[in-house]
Amino acid sequence: MAFQERVFSGMQPTGNLHLGNYLGAMIRWIELQKSMDCIYCVVDMHAITVFQDPADLTRAIREVTAAYIACGLDPARSVIFNQSQVAEHAELAWVFNCVARLGWLNRMTQFKEKAGKDRENASVGLYAYPNLMAADILVYRATHVPVGEDQKQHLELARDIAQKFNGDFRQAIAARGHNSDGFFPLPEPLIQGPATRVMSLRDGTKKMSKSDPSDYSRINLTDDADAIAQKVRKAKTDADALPSEEAGLKGRPEAENLVGIFAALDGRTKQAVLDQFGGAQFSAFKAALVDLAVARLAPIGEEMRRLVADPSSIDAILRDGADRARAIARPNMDAVKDIVGFIR
Ligand code: TYM
Repeated sequence: MAFQERVFSGMQPTGNLHLGNYLGAMIRWIELQKSMDCIYCVVDMHAITVFQDPADLTRAIREVTAAYIACGLDPARSVIFNQSQVAEHAELAWVFNCVARLGWLNRMTQFKEKAGKDRENASVGLYAYPNLMAADILVYRATHVPVGEDQKQHLELARDIAQKFNGDFRQAIAARGHNSDGFFPLPEPLIQGPATRVMSLRDGTKKMSKSDPSDYSRINLTDDADAIAQKVRKAKTDADALPSEEAGLKGRPEAENLVGIFAALDGRTKQAVLDQFGGAQFSAFKAALVDLAVARLAPIGEEMRRLVADPSSIDAILRDGADRARAIARPNMDAVKDIVGFIR
């Protein structure tokens, strides 16, 4: 018996969303909501794995929600909510803390990067973060997870957790008449498109991220037209003209990044962009990229500013989304309790 198809994904409300979030994930989210049941979460419980000022966190949750809607997610079609309003995430995460193995978490490269040298001083939450992420997805028994390249390892862990749970509790699952493939689906990562790993505008070998101290390294979704244009114009390039074939981008990380950004913003492939700009100098290419980026991104920033001016409407959307999310999560969590052997 196949699992019902369902999409789940989330973003952390820590600071600004940027072009990497938009091109690596959001564009796909918007596409998927046209044809599938989608649940899009503002993962505030993940955010506090690193200390957040409470007032900033509240503001950031509303701002990310506004970004979701301004980018084109439709709260009537998709379920949009913040994680901490649906307690089942934390409830299932505890069960997964007991399923996942220390050795699995020890391999997570993102923890190593984020904890840095002072690992002893990292929060336990930062370490167990991938288990909560698995719970986010599996509490809805979601089958598809659209994300950027950097989340691939976490999704492999989610699949391992689903598989081990299905195996450890095989008899209890069968006894309760659940899906013969196991209680949880193995969620499939959707890492697609020409910009699954958007790089810094200052250094084509570093990922674009909100933690980079240079604001010129990224385009924020809140940037206005002037800021977007400035950042594109200042973006690092090399001295050569653009190649005509995609293979010619090898070893030219800045060129490859800008071509990928153009392609993703315009809904085409890198090769299609090079068919147009092969042989052109960066000055001409950047001028076209400024026009495209401003046309696509500036309206999002404006709409976000309009939405955050009315926080009570945003809060109402989150509450409604949380009610709809809980209606799916609660029966699944009850089933997990029965499978594990808890009394309820
Ligand atoms: P987060 O908040 O870091 O990023 C949100 C989404 O944006 C993608 N992304 C990028 N894609 C391309 N290039 C970049 N430079 C770039 N930077 C970020 C990320 O891959 C992600 O898809 N752990 C997750 C949040 C999460 C989650 C989940 C995701 C929590 N639970 C369950 C999916 C399913 C994170 O920190 O994403």
